[in-house]
Amino acid sequence: MENTSQNTESLQQNNDIGQGRGVYISTYGCQMNVNDTERMYSLLEMQNFTPVEKPEDASLIIINSCSVREKPVHKVYSEVGTFRKMKEKNPSLKIGVGGCVGQQEKENLIKNQPMIDFVFGTDQIDNLPQLVAQSFEGEKRLINAKFEHRAPYHIETMVRNPGVATFVNITKGCDNFCTFCVVPYTRGREKSRPLQHILTDIRHLVKRGVKEVTLLGQNVNSYKGEEDIDFADLLAKVATETDVERIRFTTSHPKDFNQKLADTMAAHQNKVMEYIHLPFQSGNTRILEKMNRNYTREQYLEKIAMLKKTIPNVVFSTDIIVGFPGETEEEFQDTVTMVQEGGFETIFAFKYSPRPFTKAAKFEEQVDEEVKTDRLNRLFDAHDKMAFDLVKRYEGQTMQVLVENVDREHGKIQGRSTGNKLVHFLGTPDLIGKTVNVKITKAFPAVFRGELI
Ligand code: SAH
Ligand code: SF4
Ligand code: F3S
Repeated sequence: MENTSQNTESLQQNNDIGQGRGVYISTYGCQMNVNDTERMYSLLEMQNFTPVEKPEDASLIIINSCSVREKPVHKVYSEVGTFRKMKEKNPSLKIGVGGCVGQQEKENLIKNQPMIDFVFGTDQIDNLPQLVAQSFEGEKRLINAKFEHRAPYHIETMVRNPGVATFVNITKGCDNFCTFCVVPYTRGREKSRPLQHILTDIRHLVKRGVKEVTLLGQNVNSYKGEEDIDFADLLAKVATETDVERIRFTTSHPKDFNQKLADTMAAHQNKVMEYIHLPFQSGNTRILEKMNRNYTREQYLEKIAMLKKTIPNVVFSTDIIVGFPGETEEEFQDTVTMVQEGGFETIFAFKYSPRPFTKAAKFEEQVDEEVKTDRLNRLFDAHDKMAFDLVKRYEGQTMQVLVENVDREHGKIQGRSTGNKLVHFLGTPDLIGKTVNVKITKAFPAVFRGELI
């Protein structure tokens, strides 16, 4: 709340800064960053900036960066290079870097790339208008990357055009410290938003036409509201005390997924969608221990079995890392068999990438890049072989699809099934926002084609 009143004050001082100026935000990384970008645009619009589609039309460019693997960090640096050329032609252009690389690198970014005007951390988004005003007033090398350790997480959702389906943050930060992961260092300690704030947010979004919300956090099922409210309680409240039609959530941690939560999903299955993203990372217990994941292969498979029993049509997707330090070929094979045993229709798999501050980056026995690439390719091949057969069973079935938007293909619209599959079919735009029955004619692992019934 403190932040909000500070903002109001600073906005009153600076609300003409954006007059006649365009702002462009380049966004990388996860859904948190997508939501943060919406917040940044909303705050900057209050300062009279106009969002623009192309960086060439902007007077202010912000890079909302991701640091989860080395690749997105490289992309940030190459993008900075492109924007530098624009700034050489137009010296009044301001360039700022936020997000997880901003948080991680702080002043180093400006040391390495002096034409960056300001850097801000993941907890400083609400102070962005202030920072931007200072920058346009001529202050140089501005850095604001403090974590607000003591401030409660009281931030209302800000999305400009929520559409039919949107995301609502319920927690921020992460306390799990998986040994490969930079997120606890770039997002700080885990904090939960108060239950009533979340419910109010969702009610407002419903009034704006939203039919589906995805509750968002690095580890949603460790949500802790006031008076010992846990994630299952929150889910039940959203289902019973708001008019939202569909509820999803991401990401879940296997160690925190308990029977109570599964029972709550089943009890509210008319609203809580039968889809769970449940990253397992590795199918080998020794590697899981070195990753500090706090479950074994057997415990993970038991959770899957428990969930399938409680929610009969449940669909799973997962995240996997190959080539974690010390991973042998045999241990990698455990990951391959885990994909098969779990029956995952969709997987998100990555080569292990050493990250700053993390324990695993210092482990000996780092796996060679070629070995990682080979394992990743073989994992995708193994998955492809099973996934096409696995989804065949959906052909001929009728699914309830919430129509989200028009398809690129002429005359078609698209939406999501309860199990989170993207479904394309012939239809008219007036169906956007409605839930319709669609018969599946062709099923691929991530996308279905169908006919409106
Ligand atoms: N909070 C989520 C995931 C956040 S990061 C969770 O706990 O599941 C998203 C995914 O990126 C992770 O699930 C992991 O598979 C991958 N990832 C994280 N750090 C990585 C690293 N150092 N190298 C490769 N992949 C990584
Ligand atoms: Fe990273 Fe692990 Fe936290 Fe997920 S649970 S954000 S992988 S530390
Ligand atoms: Fe990337 Fe930060 Fe999200 S590292 S994945 S943007 S939490």
